[in-house]
Amino acid sequence: MNLHGIVVAAGRGERFGGPKAVVLLGGIPLWVRAVESLRQAGALTVTVVGAAPGGIPGGIRRRDSVAAGLAALPSDASHVLVHDAARPLASASLGRLVAARLQVGDVDGVVPGIPVADTLKQVEGARVVTTVSRSGLIAVQTPQGFVLDALREAHRADDSDATDDAQLVERNGGSVVFVPGETSNLKITRPEDLAIAEAWLP
Ligand code: C5P
Repeated sequence: MNLHGIVVAAGRGERFGGPKAVVLLGGIPLWVRAVESLRQAGALTVTVVGAAPGGIPGGIRRRDSVAAGLAALPSDASHVLVHDAARPLASASLGRLVAARLQVGDVDGVVPGIPVADTLKQVEGARVVTTVSRSGLIAVQTPQGFVLDALREAHRADDSDATDDAQLVERNGGSVVFVPGETSNLKITRPEDLAIAEAWLP
């Protein structure tokens, strides 16, 4: 397995109030933490997409930024870990777990996921329409791992938007499995998330 990594860091951070990848957490930029976790998980190189030093330009949608990263990977890459700069607390062992499952060789993609603990309700404005069963539902994180050909093919086959990479592979008929995620693998979305992440720093 020739494993490489992509960190997407080109979001505008609208809910955060500005680009968050360069924000410091414990004195270290979020994008650096994301790169380090992939390197420690075994990625031979990590391509950064976005406004980080050495980063390549991203796109309008997250999937466009991932596509830019895919186009820039070394030619001998066979597998890829795709990770959000917005998840600076993902441990290296989570990336290793994803990569190890991928290495078994029977699936196109592996995502970290956590069973949903909250009760879910569908709403219209403030009105509750119905309660959605949480049975069989997981909340999905990054890093996500893929057979590179499968992810590239999924990108070619489908130009619609997706909130994660696995969605493209699923829609293209690929097989995706999940491994246990980490409750500490918080996604920095709003400014207050940064304070939570500071408190959770190992
Ligand atoms: O916007 P959201 O929080 O879903 O972004 C998830 C990750 O995708 C972030 O790390 C963000 O920088 C990245 N992203 C990107 N290009 C975009 C949108 C998001 O690289 N156009």
